[in-house]
Amino acid sequence: MKPFIFAMVLSFLSRATAAPAGNELEKRDSTSFKLVAYGVASSYIDIFFSDGLAYAGDASLWEAEGNVVTDVTFLMENTELNTTATPSASKLDPSTLFYIRPVADKVLPVGFTKNGVDTPSDAVTNNFIFYGTYLMWEEASGTLTSSFRLLPMNVSGIYQLYFDYSNLYPSGYEIPVIKSVNV
Ligand SMILES: *[C@@H]1O[C@H](CO)[C@@H](O)[C@H](O)[C@H]1NC(C)=O
Ligand SMILES: *[C@@H]1O[C@H](CO)[C@@H](O)[C@H](O)[C@H]1NC(C)=O
Repeated sequence: MKPFIFAMVLSFLSRATAAPAGNELEKRDSTSFKLVAYGVASSYIDIFFSDGLAYAGDASLWEAEGNVVTDVTFLMENTELNTTATPSASKLDPSTLFYIRPVADKVLPVGFTKNGVDTPSDAVTNNFIFYGTYLMWEEASGTLTSSFRLLPMNVSGIYQLYFDYSNLYPSGYEIPVIKSVNV
């Protein structure tokens, strides 16, 4: 286990014992936020949209690589992450949703529904929850998972966001935590 993740787990455990979990699970209704990745740069980097897939870093450095590249903010609605382009909301379809693909033994791209891009049949858009500010996904069993990975792109400081459901920790991928920041 990498020291960074170990520290995170310890932090979860200490917080879980300090207060009932119910106090930590937040719904975030009606508050707009961005998602950011911690752990791969000296500060956090923003999650952004590029042609239906999720990336992290400075979106302006990636504009030449995609047809539609935009920063995004989110609203949590019924455990789904409703996604709005910023500053030009018209860049994305209304009610665009963030998805993960929690498939055993696969490391799969995280993305967004709609916008002329086919959504994979194994994409899941609901049962997201925040543990404090940490983005987690709640399985039917109640287990919380947060197995996000970042694959460095060939533009410095830009990463593609993946979900590693079975915690395979593939080589070449960085291990971030994904958090919300109010906007
Ligand atoms: C997503 O947010 C937009 C803008 O706030 C709203 O019009 C739309 O109804 C929301 N969609 C869902 C599925 O909640
Ligand atoms: C960088 O990646 C993009 C997208 O995969 C590709 O089109 C481009 O050729 C790559 N550039 C270099 C220098 O490898």
